[in-house]
Amino acid sequence: MPKDFSTLEDSNRSSNPSIHEVSDPARRTMLRGGMGLAATAFFGALAGCASGPPGATGPRLGFEGIAASTADAVVVPEGYTAQVLAPWGEPVGVAGAMPAWAPDASNSADEQALQMGMHHDGLHFFALDGSRRGLLVSNHEYADDGLLHPGGMQPWTAEKVAKSQAAHGISVIEIELKEGRWQMLRPSRYARRFTASTPFAVGGPAAGHALMKTAADPGGRRVLGTLNNCASGTTPWGTCLSGEENWANYFHPSDQPTAHERRWGIRKNHWYRWHEHDPRFDTVRHPNEPNRFGWVVEVDPMDPGSTPVKRTALGRAAHEGATVAVTKDGHAVVYSGEDAAFETIYKFVSRDRIRPAGGGLTAAQANAELLDHGTLFVARFEADGSGRWLPLVHGQGPLTADRGFADQGEVLIKARQASDALGGTKMDRPEWIAVDTASGWVYCALTNNSDRGAEGKATTDATNPRAANTMGHIIRWQEEGDLGGERFRWNHFVLAGDAANDRAEARGNVKGDAFACPDTLAFDPRGVLWIGTDVGSRSLNRGEMARLGNNQLLACDPTSGEVRRFLVGSVGAEITGCSFTPDGTTMFVNVQHPGESPGDRSDPAAPNRHSNWPDFRPDGRPRSATVAVRRDDGGAIGA
Ligand code: FEO
Ligand code: CA
Ligand code: CA
Ligand code: CA
Repeated sequence: MPKDFSTLEDSNRSSNPSIHEVSDPARRTMLRGGMGLAATAFFGALAGCASGPPGATGPRLGFEGIAASTADAVVVPEGYTAQVLAPWGEPVGVAGAMPAWAPDASNSADEQALQMGMHHDGLHFFALDGSRRGLLVSNHEYADDGLLHPGGMQPWTAEKVAKSQAAHGISVIEIELKEGRWQMLRPSRYARRFTASTPFAVGGPAAGHALMKTAADPGGRRVLGTLNNCASGTTPWGTCLSGEENWANYFHPSDQPTAHERRWGIRKNHWYRWHEHDPRFDTVRHPNEPNRFGWVVEVDPMDPGSTPVKRTALGRAAHEGATVAVTKDGHAVVYSGEDAAFETIYKFVSRDRIRPAGGGLTAAQANAELLDHGTLFVARFEADGSGRWLPLVHGQGPLTADRGFADQGEVLIKARQASDALGGTKMDRPEWIAVDTASGWVYCALTNNSDRGAEGKATTDATNPRAANTMGHIIRWQEEGDLGGERFRWNHFVLAGDAANDRAEARGNVKGDAFACPDTLAFDPRGVLWIGTDVGSRSLNRGEMARLGNNQLLACDPTSGEVRRFLVGSVGAEITGCSFTPDGTTMFVNVQHPGESPGDRSDPAAPNRHSNWPDFRPDGRPRSATVAVRRDDGGAIGA
């Protein structure tokens, strides 16, 4: 769906007061008071947040920031080349099953299941041979049925539903660098697709729970498919984690959704219409099927025969992604934001230590159940700059049977309701989270929330300080003690915006090239923080976004806070999923939904009306793709 759609996902009706309204009335008054001098002074004071002590230097930004662009092209600085790799529809490389891309979108559902999915999002490079050969694991977030089928959704058939399902999920491809250019290696023993039909195992406390059981899966331990895979992360044991984000939109409830469905944003909509040909997505007939989505899934790209697993100990959410860090004594910590308006940020700490490979087991096999045992926490930010991680543990605090949580499985399946009860802070749509291992700061992109402060909605607070927050901000925290601790200190790293705007809330305090709606965050091997943007296509290059150009990728020195624009995407695209070879000489980044039609599907009669990137065939259509960026002299990206 167009990502503007997700701004509508605001199911948090809990009356749980934003504690900042209570604890800091003076600041609330100041921020709501017409955004005059006081507010400007406050935002000004936030500028210049930096990691290091005075005089500390960060990684060198050795390129000239590029201008904003509205061209239907991917633009990079002088001395760099961007190469298109693995666009939607390209066969992934399964031996004996490599159906060619049909530019008129006439590939069948079975063919699509062997090709790159639509709308590439989170991606990671897994090295096989240093920085010259490896696997690329890409998420395919959603499908645009106007582009996916020659006639769009007219007529709407079971075959089109199957093709839409096959265009979702995750792909694994093998790639190699030859004479300065990356190419897919096909066939490859690693080549694989996970789709909305692939069997997944269920791990953790919700496995086998009564709320996970369906007619097709009376054991509640085997789910078909993964949906709306957005951001992703890697584990120290070599696997990939992927977040199931806006899964609620695939389900079709009755005219009167249950309270549980309403809290999770399941409502009648006519975007996917899968339920018309696949009753699994009709919640009247299959009320527990939605409980089987909204998890972080783990896949082992190195083992093509492995079964992917839904890790329920990490909690159910509209998971943006999952970012792993390690405590000093070897426990895994997984951070994950829930990208929906007024939802929360989570942290999971594993019960056990990460185990090394050995005894005939790979590292992935040795840690096959590591993410099934541990403690999940929700973040509560206090107005004084402190914060606490509140445990989602059955029997503790309000998470008891008489409050509707029968056991730990139900706490995790109803993690939103549990977070409401605990008092987790309602954020402005948490997207990617990145950990700066050098400084210990954890950064989270809060992409936007234009409903902040609107009538009937939560007002501004210390952590989400701007009403009608169309621009977004990046918050960061440092754990007190080790990463597994329960207290932290936080501040704002940057408020996105354009200083040339009239409206104070839309100006921000960016030190360098202006941007809006941060989404992707990733550190490269040198310690540069890369920021990808996702301004919705209804806002892009209009109004307060008029000077910002197409969505883009920016490099940021986390020590000084300086921001430079590095890459600008094609028309209508989001820039997402930034990953690097170990030596830092190639950056892989995904160009998602080029030509997205503002607020709607693409028009099948004119699929290339807005963009024709990257093929530019007169009879073609825009295709999401990975872009490999290299420096012409072979040096490290950005240095
Ligand atoms: Fe899929 Fe929150 O972006
Ligand atoms: Ca998007
Ligand atoms: Ca995202
Ligand atoms: Ca986004």
